[in-house]
Amino acid sequence: MNNQNTINDIRSKIDIVELIGEYAPLEQKGSHFWGSCPFHKDKSPSLMVDPQKQTFNCWSCHRSGNVFNFYQEIENVDFKEALKALGERVGVSLTGGISSFDSRYSKYYEIYDLSSKFYQLMLNTDSGKEAKEYLKKRGIDDETIKEFGIGLAPNEKNKLVSYLQKKNYDSNTLSDLWLLNGEVDTFINRIMFPLDDRNGRVVGFSGRIYTESNFSKYMNTKETPIFKKGSCLYHYKSSKEYVRIEKSVIIMEGFMDVIRASTIGVKNTVALMGTALTDEQIVLLKKLSLNVYLCLDGDKPGLDAALHNGETLEKAGFNVKVIYLKDDEDPDSYILKYGKEKFISLIENALNYSDFKISRLKMDIDFSSPDELTKYIENVLKEISLVESEITREIMLKKLATETNVSYNTLEKNLNEYLNAKDSSYIKQQNFISKEENIRKDKYTRASLEFLYYMLINPKVIKVYDSKKLYFIDSNMRNLAGEISYYYHNYGDILIADFYTYLNDKKELLVVFEEVIKLSLDEEINDYVIDDYVRVISDYNVRQEIVRLRELMMKESDELEKAKIAEKIRLLRIEE
Ligand code: UTP
Ligand code: MN
Repeated sequence: MNNQNTINDIRSKIDIVELIGEYAPLEQKGSHFWGSCPFHKDKSPSLMVDPQKQTFNCWSCHRSGNVFNFYQEIENVDFKEALKALGERVGVSLTGGISSFDSRYSKYYEIYDLSSKFYQLMLNTDSGKEAKEYLKKRGIDDETIKEFGIGLAPNEKNKLVSYLQKKNYDSNTLSDLWLLNGEVDTFINRIMFPLDDRNGRVVGFSGRIYTESNFSKYMNTKETPIFKKGSCLYHYKSSKEYVRIEKSVIIMEGFMDVIRASTIGVKNTVALMGTALTDEQIVLLKKLSLNVYLCLDGDKPGLDAALHNGETLEKAGFNVKVIYLKDDEDPDSYILKYGKEKFISLIENALNYSDFKISRLKMDIDFSSPDELTKYIENVLKEISLVESEITREIMLKKLATETNVSYNTLEKNLNEYLNAKDSSYIKQQNFISKEENIRKDKYTRASLEFLYYMLINPKVIKVYDSKKLYFIDSNMRNLAGEISYYYHNYGDILIADFYTYLNDKKELLVVFEEVIKLSLDEEINDYVIDDYVRVISDYNVRQEIVRLRELMMKESDELEKAKIAEKIRLLRIEE
């Protein structure tokens, strides 16, 4: 039996209703079971367990998955441990060692794990003296070095790679993992920070220069099958137990910020690693906590990022507070300069996101200038008009009246104008223009998701996908379709619960997958409906291609090339 089949075998022998029932009382309503979600305070039961699909899903905290996901989360263990524990329950022994059941990437994890240990050792050798000194100067003691697995890539050409080659790992794999660059180690003479995935396994590194050098400050592992910078949150796994206690998570920009905060006992933190918040990171955050603090750098880019990310998080349903650091400080430098108490008091006095937005507007205003003041008031009123709660709006309006010395009534009158303008005919008209395009897009997206749904439950649809070579513009949808087909051809019929495990390492795909299986569609499907999906998807692709070619044609100056593109468009039109 191969790995996937053994995993599926264990999964199928454990009833999810029974397992979850051990942690939370469940009650049957119709074809599903419901209970209070054990992962957070849950007044109305929002945990739904599906005995047919053998999956669970919380409508409040959005945790979801199969028995393994549930067990991992509630027992705070990784996949391997969950597999072992649940396997023992049903008497399936994992012959050949558990590590071989890890996943098809187990070798990669092994290599990173060894490399991380190697780097840590190097820091404690003679060649690590200068790096140690640097860390000490930055106030990072031995305990912290150990906690974060900090190490050293020594100033030698092939130190790590020759160590790994002696252990029989081939050069190609090491290149794929960005540890080998041509003939030499990728990381040379850098302090090494291991990057963990959501299960706490090392999946990459960031290396910092620590001597005078023209190289860029940090160098990171590039994308590999198990690492994508945009879907990584530094310190995610380790923050979990602290987030549970604090009931909130603090989002920082860099990992030095997280490390520094840890030295003063603030450990419910994650770092974005200098990127803008991505959809994948939002999904991960939702599993942590819906209460987030944004504590980004106090410089202009940091403030802009707080505004932008705050917006994204609010829209995704988080309660957002902003910790504002002034004078270009980052959490690291702030804590070093002002100490623990001051930083804790910043957390306690964090601004609500909407207040932060307003205080941001205030920063560039000269209050003695009537023009500037008027402009400021208008901008704030616009912000207030976007707030949903009437009570909050009133509170904000009162604040604005006191602050600007303009009467409450006048402000209220003006606010009402903004509120009315929100659904004025002008805006409606504006929307109308793109409405047709929007409808088309919605239809396409729905058709794609529904098609994926039927691929999962009906092999006939997989065959249609294979034969038509159906193309999805969205790369995650495209890859999910590919994986479904691959899985079916290698392991046979797909059970939703098993497919969860299979996608464990592909976080981006899990996002789409979860969206797909939330659709509750008829199990039965006839060929007409499938044909219709195929038509909608292909038509949309053709339209998009025409749009792309038109843009290309506009930019093209060569008449002959232009004509060639025009011909391509004509042919596509016929197809359409
Ligand atoms: P910062 O430049 O704010 O780093 O970048 P920092 O935390 O203050 O680092 P120190 O204090 O100088 O050591 C924030 C994050 O952006 C990413 C890193 O993940 C860093 O933690 N970054 C920054 C890079 O990936 N490459 C760079 O060259 C710089
Ligand atoms: Mn810094």
